[in-house]
Amino acid sequence: MTQALAATLDQAAPSGVRRPAAAEPFRFIAPTLPPLEEVLALYAPAYRDGMITNSRVVARFEAAVAERLGVRHCVAVSSCTCGLMLVFKALGVEGEVILPSFTFFATAHSALWSRLRPVFADCDPETWTICPEDAERKITSRTAAILGVHLYGNPCEIATLSGMAARNRLKLVFDAAHAFGSEYQGRPIGQFGDAEVFSLSPTKLLVAGEGGLVTTNDAALAKRIRAGRNYGDAGNYDPELLGLNARMTEFNAALGLAGLRMVDAKVERHNLIAAEYARVLRSLRGVGFQVVRPGNVSSYKDYCVHIDAGECGISRDDLRAALMAEGIETRTYFSPAVHRQELYRAFSAPVRGSLRRTERLAEGILSLPIYYSLPLETVARVALAVKEAMPGSRRAAWAWADNRDHARVPR
Ligand SMILES: Cc1ncc(COP(=O)(O)O)c(C=O)c1O
Repeated sequence: MTQALAATLDQAAPSGVRRPAAAEPFRFIAPTLPPLEEVLALYAPAYRDGMITNSRVVARFEAAVAERLGVRHCVAVSSCTCGLMLVFKALGVEGEVILPSFTFFATAHSALWSRLRPVFADCDPETWTICPEDAERKITSRTAAILGVHLYGNPCEIATLSGMAARNRLKLVFDAAHAFGSEYQGRPIGQFGDAEVFSLSPTKLLVAGEGGLVTTNDAALAKRIRAGRNYGDAGNYDPELLGLNARMTEFNAALGLAGLRMVDAKVERHNLIAAEYARVLRSLRGVGFQVVRPGNVSSYKDYCVHIDAGECGISRDDLRAALMAEGIETRTYFSPAVHRQELYRAFSAPVRGSLRRTERLAEGILSLPIYYSLPLETVARVALAVKEAMPGSRRAAWAWADNRDHARVPR
């Protein structure tokens, strides 16, 4: 949030005066970064030595992540997209990959770049992640892999997907772009499938500027990905694998390493924000929520609700416009669904069943602001603004309280 907004929220409004929820638009997303001195202290030796890419800080970062996630190998790469491409290349899969359509298009791009044909599965109506039953229906003799996505940080149905992959001798990969800090049945995301791949771009809870992390318990796979991120060169200048330049720089690694200790507090904060949104919005007819299964932890990288226009009496897009008029920016992650996008229409494969739930979800999805430094007070105001934009809701006089919560946010 900008200082200007904080100052505005701190002002007492004259009673009965109609004021927008936020006097000026505040940022939809604002990364909280570690102190610069910490990052520079980690980076300085690399800079002095002139070893500024894929060297000691990267190795330290990889070791720290592997330890934190309880996984044998972590390979740092330049992005999640490249990480997923390298995983497919290193696994040597060919043919079809089954993946959800309700995701960011980079998930599917990684398949296309790997010359895999994407086959879209519908989403689960509760968790909004890939529906295992629909995925199973879509398996054919050409299927090589399943690519699940821990959507917004909510873990997939991992046990069911793992069983299905094993039964059908398929590779299982997770796009964990959103899920650093998430847990599945008490175990950190990062331990599952053949490999999981995180993103470290600025909207994530762990930020390296740009970057990705591949985690796996398979030593041979890790070795191939290490070669793959360096054009395929395993060190003998005679590549076996078609790699690319997907190395991480030392500066990105220093940023990530310094940010690692902030992740727990961020997950906790995002969960508090999610609970606050749910507290206010739960009573509204036509507002749907993503279900996090008992025993799981979502990082809540994003907080999204589903707006059923018929029940709410307002469309998602009109609601967005009403919120924007209040100075509240929202997004529509991820609409349209991937199979509806120009690049993917050829792969929508209606013959293999509809993607009805995905289409319905994409039509009504609304992403509300969520980030570590967002005061709970502001969250409540945003939620109230959603409530009051619904027809029939009477606008209450704003209780312009101090923005004390903002000051309490740990640095
Ligand atoms: C689900 C998902 N997969 C993959 C990516 C790509 O990540 P990166 O930008 O690190 O390549 C993103 C980006 O946010 C994403 O949301």
